[in-house]
Formats: sequence, C-alpha cells, structure tokens
Amino acid sequence: MTTVSAPGKLMLMGEHAVVYGQPCIVTAVDQRLIVGVEKNTSGRTIIDAPQVRDLRFVEACIAEFKKSYNTAGVDGGLSVSIRSQFSSSVGFGSSSAVTVALLKALSLEYAVGLTERDIFDLAYAVVLRVQGVGSGFDVASALYGGTLYFKKGGEVIEPLHNGVPIVVGYTGVKADTVRLVEHVKNLQERYPEKVDRIFSAIGKLVESGKEAIEGRDRERLGTLFTFNQEYLRDLGVSTEKLETLIAASKKAGAYGAKLSGAGGGDCMIAVVSEENRGRVESAIREAGGEVMNVTTHAPGAIIIPNERISSREGIGAPA
Ligand code: PMV
Repeated sequence: MTTVSAPGKLMLMGEHAVVYGQPCIVTAVDQRLIVGVEKNTSGRTIIDAPQVRDLRFVEACIAEFKKSYNTAGVDGGLSVSIRSQFSSSVGFGSSSAVTVALLKALSLEYAVGLTERDIFDLAYAVVLRVQGVGSGFDVASALYGGTLYFKKGGEVIEPLHNGVPIVVGYTGVKADTVRLVEHVKNLQERYPEKVDRIFSAIGKLVESGKEAIEGRDRERLGTLFTFNQEYLRDLGVSTEKLETLIAASKKAGAYGAKLSGAGGGDCMIAVVSEENRGRVESAIREAGGEVMNVTTHAPGAIIIPNERISSREGIGAPA
C-alpha cells in the first residue's frame, strides 16, 4: 500500500489571465486529500472513494498511467482508496489534488520513478483530457505546495518564500470553472483589444503582488487584490454574493479583497492584519458567507508512511 496526501489550493491573483499566458500566484491550503493505492490479484481496479462525485479524473489517471507505463505490470489488479478533508464544492481543487496524489502514489507503488516534473506533466495532461481547459496552476499547487508564481503549463513554477495572511469566505455556491473560462474566451474573441488589455493589466498586478508577498507588505497586497477584483468584475465573472462578501470584509478593515478562482461562486479572499482578522471574519459571516478555517502555504504532495485507508478511517465530512 502506498499512501500520498495532497493539499487543496486557493488562487491568490491572476485567474483567467493565466490561461492567456500571464502569470498567477497560487497558494496551497492545509486541507488535504489522501489517496492510497495497492496492487491486488483480482485483475480488476477497485475504487473506494465515497466522497468523490466525479470519478473521471481517477479513471483518466489510471488509464494515462497504464498507457505510459504498461511495462510496469499495471495490468494486474489495483485497489484505490480516496478520502478528503474538504468538499469538492468549495473550489479548493479536489480534482487536481486527486490527480496529483494518485499519480504520485501509482509511481511509487509500481516503482516507475517519476520525477516531480513527470508527475506535473502527466497530471496536467489528465486534467486537460477530462476538463478540456485549464492553466495547470492547481496541479502545480497540489504537487509542489507552498505559494507559487506560476505560468501556464508549468512554463514557470517559482516558489515564493512567504504565505499570505488571508481570510477565506465561501459563498455557498459552487463555481462552474469550465463555463466561466468559456465565457471569458467568448468575451476575448468579441473584444480582443479590450480583453487583452485587461489580461496584461492583471499580469502587471501579479508581478507587484509577488513583490508584496516577498516583502510581507500586507497593505500593498490588499490594494493589489482590490485592483485585481475590479478587472475580474470587468470580465463578468464576479457575482452579487461575492461582491457583498468582499465589500463587507473591506468595511470591517481588510486591506483589500477579491474572488478566488474562476468566479461565479466558490470563495472570496481578504488580506487582513492579525488584529482585524476576527472583525473581518464576523463581517463575512454576517453578510451570509461561511468562513473557511485554512492556513496558506501548506506542503505539497507527500508520502504518508504506513498509512492504510479504510471506510472506517474517513478523515473528513463527505463532499
Ligand atoms: O475555479 P478554479 O479555482 O479552478 O480556478 C480557475 C482559474 C482559471 O484561471 C479561471 C482557470 C485556470 O485553469 O487557470
């Protein structure tokens, strides 16, 4: 049995623009997903994943791994168990965490010795195959963890040294990433000059955001979040609920706030000082949001020695 855990993620800055070649910043959060794999003699693949609603990523990982490493005896039976600490509806990237953890576990169980880069490339290929769109930022975050400055397809994956003090508010609405990426694509096709200008402006904000994170300048980072949010609103991916939570957090003293991820729902994030964290959290709750207790800059995919996953040992609330 090989067991690997991978973290959830939150996009800090640069969503959507990253799909068009601009950089983004993503951080791993300390809510994790655990995948165990074990060869069996049944000749079949048995998947025990009661919390995973969409098994397409799991099936695609196994198919892709078999296709690439068929010589390693993967044609025999395989048992896969998956447990998650977070629901697949909050936007923490359960699909990429599953994909990364499963491929890393398969690589170890079948001793094919994939490098981290091999795992990234394979996992990104799986995500593209199943989802059709995506920059791969979520795959990089699940694999490497920490806080990353990232460019599409892993062209740049640069670890930043600090996490970011944020409050996370969940809207209660699950975002449809594929639909929103499609919406932005249509907008870009209809108004290429305007939308490309927005993308490059977001890219510049990300560069400044990287400096602000490295310099631990919360006030500057907050302002950059707010500017980034204005562009996301222009792209038409914000919602009333997101705007309400963002406004409430700023009124309660956050340095700045924005949506995180594709938009349309999922979470908003606000940069706070330790003194006003509590006030911002209360304001988000009063405005109808759910505060998610997460810390950023969590470790990437790690092997958990001697861990056995069974239905009795589920580690979190069902998705
Ligand atoms: O909805 P999420 O959290 O998966 O974020 C999507 C971010 C996009 O930039 C819109 C798409 C991508 O893959 O980069």
